[in-house]
Amino acid sequence: MSDTERPRVLVTRRWPDKAEDRLRALFDVTLNEDDTPLGPDAMIAAAQDYDAVLPTVSDRIPPDFYTVPDRRVRLLANYGVGHNHIDTAAAREAGIAVTNTPGVLTDATADLAMGLLLAAARRIGEGERELRSGNWAGWRPTHMIGAQVAGATLGIIGFGRIGKAMAQRGHHGFGMDVVFHNRSKVDDAEAARYGARQLDSVGDVMEAADFVSLHCPGGAETRHIVDAAALARMKPTGYLINTARGDVVDEAALTAALTERRIAGAGLDVYEAEPHVGDELRGLENVVLAPHLGSATATTRLAMGMRAIDNAEAFFAGRDLPNRVV
Ligand code: DGY
Repeated sequence: MSDTERPRVLVTRRWPDKAEDRLRALFDVTLNEDDTPLGPDAMIAAAQDYDAVLPTVSDRIPPDFYTVPDRRVRLLANYGVGHNHIDTAAAREAGIAVTNTPGVLTDATADLAMGLLLAAARRIGEGERELRSGNWAGWRPTHMIGAQVAGATLGIIGFGRIGKAMAQRGHHGFGMDVVFHNRSKVDDAEAARYGARQLDSVGDVMEAADFVSLHCPGGAETRHIVDAAALARMKPTGYLINTARGDVVDEAALTAALTERRIAGAGLDVYEAEPHVGDELRGLENVVLAPHLGSATATTRLAMGMRAIDNAEAFFAGRDLPNRVV
């Protein structure tokens, strides 16, 4: 097939090499070789110039993308499972299909959540900073005492794929008691596979758990479900772990709770205004901060690319979309 017959596809950021090779083989593709984020004008122009745009979770898609005259774009095949950067109502209205990449980043994200939990509980970041700065005075019985993870209660908000993978690690790996909140009722037998009990509200989980890990989607419905009131229900010895989306947590309220030691600590991978993270939060010792690394393994990032391509390939072949959002 010549380029004039192949779908015109724009990829907004660099992807793993093997995924880019597959894109070249299938489409008349424009890759983003220098990995510079697209500004609003380039995004709007892309809606006029391409049949499909393959964006990712850090892209900003301006409202005019969905309404610009002479629109050519018919598909947004997102690289990533979270799609709160896409206005799905506007896409529906504009007749643009939207897909995402669920399933392939479950283990990588749960691993990172458990890593942050352990790092926060055992003060690994703080300890590394002390050692690197040359200030470690040697082993002593009272040095940098953290919290015991084994046997503690793990609270999970959002019991989907990643929430369950976290429960699996906590219960079967670390002997943790697991409680969770989920919008819909989870079958008791299913919950029991993870040694888990469903509680009625986010607040109930905050109160019961030693470690609260967030695994719900971002967006209007979950914005600030962890606010000052929810944080106030946590134990003063409690830790908050967020690998979900930054806007699920009121970051100012969390920063205040950590500064005033109303909770013991936090492990964060996502932030309200990424990549900006406030000075105050960055200055705290009792928080472990990762730069949105949840899915960042070679296996997972390639699988995400391949999944997005599967969706685009199906779309242009007129087949059912494996991961349709809109
Ligand atoms: C996603 O896919 O939503 C993740 O946040 C990327 O790591």
